[in-house]
Amino acid sequence: MVGRRDFLKGLSATALVSAAGATGLLARPAQKASLGQRPLSSGGRVHEWTLVAKERPARLLGPSGPLTPVWTYSDPVMPVMRVRLGDTIRARLDNRLAEHTSIHWHGIRVPNAMDGVPYLTQPPVLSGNVFTYEVTPPDPGTFFIHPHCNESGQTGRGMTGVLIVEGDERRQPDADLVLAYKDWRLGKDGAWLDMETPEGASRAGTFGTVRSVNGAGSATGAVVPNGDIRLRVLNLDNTRIIEVGIDGADAFVIAIDGNAVEPFALDTWRMGPAMRVDILVRAPKAGRGFRVVDYFGSETWTLATYEAAGTALPARPFEPDLLYASNLPRADLQKAERMGFTFSAASGSITEAAARLDPDDPLAKILLDGLCVRDNTFWAINKASWPAGQHRELPPPLGLLKAGQSYVFELSNATPHPHPIHLHGHTFEVLSATRLKRPRHFADTVLLQPKERIEIAFVAQAGNWMFHCHVLEHLEYGMMGYLRVV
Ligand code: C2O
Ligand code: CU
Repeated sequence: MVGRRDFLKGLSATALVSAAGATGLLARPAQKASLGQRPLSSGGRVHEWTLVAKERPARLLGPSGPLTPVWTYSDPVMPVMRVRLGDTIRARLDNRLAEHTSIHWHGIRVPNAMDGVPYLTQPPVLSGNVFTYEVTPPDPGTFFIHPHCNESGQTGRGMTGVLIVEGDERRQPDADLVLAYKDWRLGKDGAWLDMETPEGASRAGTFGTVRSVNGAGSATGAVVPNGDIRLRVLNLDNTRIIEVGIDGADAFVIAIDGNAVEPFALDTWRMGPAMRVDILVRAPKAGRGFRVVDYFGSETWTLATYEAAGTALPARPFEPDLLYASNLPRADLQKAERMGFTFSAASGSITEAAARLDPDDPLAKILLDGLCVRDNTFWAINKASWPAGQHRELPPPLGLLKAGQSYVFELSNATPHPHPIHLHGHTFEVLSATRLKRPRHFADTVLLQPKERIEIAFVAQAGNWMFHCHVLEHLEYGMMGYLRVV
């Protein structure tokens, strides 16, 4: 058994990162040269995958629990797919659901046509139809996939999977473990509860009733004593914010949203839906253990418990420089154009339809069917809400950007709720924040605290790119839009 005292000892080291009134971030680049340059990719394989989206029975309440009709891409719930940097994924999505779907490659800088947003980047993949995605991930890291329509319904029932792009390590860790967090909204009989409620959708979101890692329960396992354990933690829930810390061992954050950072000691790391963190843990000596804990809110929850067992590795200093520096385009802050985006409650009527698209615009005639919009809106970005109601037209873009130009976006939260803000197709640099202290880092999703202002910077890539909150009910009820980069 794992020693309890170790667990308790770790608790004191897990105070919130949040520092009221703390302004700005560490004024240093996201990476120092000390992480070293990554050698050219060694991949080049083509992976032919068939992902059959359909209903399958699964036991989400444990091995002797009832069956639940999950919707997944594959037999295992929460599959983990691994490729190497330089590899190409040719993924045939075979839709055997009763409704249309798609695959969005969250965090991966894909060409726009592969981004998986029905109507905006491709036609919806109708029930009974097939669509083949071809993606060559340009960056290594910890990513995931999910559909981009009826998201709370489809992802809520299980349509997601972890995608790891290997090739960022200077040396091999002693273990590489995935912890994919997700709640399920289930009754005791294993039947689904409503994925959305008006109370949830108009506030912090509708929470699941059962918490899980990698599909069911918490994770447990054995690790090599004194080993270096790479943990890839993903928050794949629709709604819940988690705040991850390690109890019983030393740990460093080594990557955020898949992107290597100059390692820093992990206190706790707060993650909204869609956010990921890679942590390097030095396993304790034999007979001891450590836990991965969610410290958010009043009740802690253990994501995983590991016991150090077997032949110990020799004691040696803990060097957290496991990863090569990332190699991402960096905005030119001197020449960057600034734009502001305010995330707020919806203003006025649902038909407040801003200006229509220019009639010559190829997107002007696109009608969104009922599956991609809800019958009401609660949320908005710059006062515009993603449209509600049956057969509404695609709204005009939230911004018109120039390809190759650097941008600084100022994101402001005018609501009492946190919003994890995600931009498709780009990895941005988080430059500054007014409430939650974080190092300067690259990310694809950033958690905007209530009343917070955050600056992000990136170089615009051509395409129509979604920009939205990743609390799935928030995006579905209005807090979603897109940028057009030409
Ligand atoms: Cu995971 Cu539009 O996002
Ligand atoms: Cu939100």
